[in-house]
Amino acid sequence: MLPCQRHLFDIPDNVAYLNCAYMSPLMKPALEAGTAGLARKAHPWHITADQFFTGSEEFRTVAARFLDASAACIAIVPSASYGIATAARNVPIKKGQSVLVLDEQFPSNYYPWQRLVEENGASLKIVPWPGDEDNDWTAAVLNALTADVAIAALPHVQWTSGGRLDLVRIGEACRKLGAALVLDLTQSLGALPFSVRDVQPDFAVAASYKWLLGPYSVGLLYVAPKWQGGIPLEENWIQRANARDFSSLILYTEDYDEGARRFDMGERSNFALMPAAVRAMKQLLEWDVAQVSQTVGVLNRQLAEAAASLGFIAPAEPLRAPHYLALRRKEAIPKELPEMLGKEKVFVSVRGSSIRVTPHVYNTSEDGERLIACLRRIAGGSTA
Ligand SMILES: Cc1ncc(COP(=O)(O)O)c(C=O)c1O
Repeated sequence: MLPCQRHLFDIPDNVAYLNCAYMSPLMKPALEAGTAGLARKAHPWHITADQFFTGSEEFRTVAARFLDASAACIAIVPSASYGIATAARNVPIKKGQSVLVLDEQFPSNYYPWQRLVEENGASLKIVPWPGDEDNDWTAAVLNALTADVAIAALPHVQWTSGGRLDLVRIGEACRKLGAALVLDLTQSLGALPFSVRDVQPDFAVAASYKWLLGPYSVGLLYVAPKWQGGIPLEENWIQRANARDFSSLILYTEDYDEGARRFDMGERSNFALMPAAVRAMKQLLEWDVAQVSQTVGVLNRQLAEAAASLGFIAPAEPLRAPHYLALRRKEAIPKELPEMLGKEKVFVSVRGSSIRVTPHVYNTSEDGERLIACLRRIAGGSTA
């Protein structure tokens, strides 16, 4: 268990921020690194050609550790949707085949596939929501993985319920079928250990602004070696093999830089965001992702227990990811809930029929008690 790390964050004592799945707070050292990075643009004569590459390579090296991958397999992207669009641009699909997605999957991992199937006479195959009691997304996915599936486009953790998918088993089943596996890890990477060696995905993307504790508009894309000769979404100068020689950029070349670098977004050497993202990821690695998962998991289990005594139910681990708690009850959640909690400076999300509670290592037991006090009032019929 990690001790509380609130001192590294600028979170006032009276704020109970339990909403990392919405957006994590940027830790002080990452804010400092980003601010210093932004300030460099005031004196561009100090920015050398080499620095267009060093920051990006550091990002790749650090990011790769969250996936148990090599740095050469990591592309720098601005968003999850960009990574999914890159996969959709490269993985082939034929008429009559299908792309597997979960029911109510996050739109960034839905729309690109909707377009792909429309353009190719294929179809979307939606994995139905598993029954309330079992909440077993893995069984539901395995059941839907039939010969027509060309691509399984899935998360590690379902974004509203916290339902956890066993990606090792799903990866195995995909390989047996010859289906590609494309993952959106935005709601899990940094909070749940993951290894490309075990899962063997074709592509895996994560936006950094949630569980990687990074800034907005930065993400990472893992590209398996077999796809690294593919076509990027953009053609920009820095992806090309000759980019390091600024004086020869117009000696146009067909060759790209090595590995997944060809899929990098334009202006990927962002001097403000890169240092902030790297600093946050380094801190997470120092804490260790397994430790983060365990620490936040304990807090969520305590909250689940206290909420259960008030009539709120949550799926149990291991079918629920430890960092994610979705509380439901028989009666509807009052629509004034977010407003009421906001007045108390307790921050959670309401997604569908659940209250989504997603703490991190900056949360204290008092934060949890304040949420439970609010739930007690709701259970007692008061929203005041
Ligand atoms: C599962 C999931 N994927 C991706 C995103 C963000 O997508 P994008 O980076 O395309 O804005 C979110 C944001 O809530 C999410 O919950």
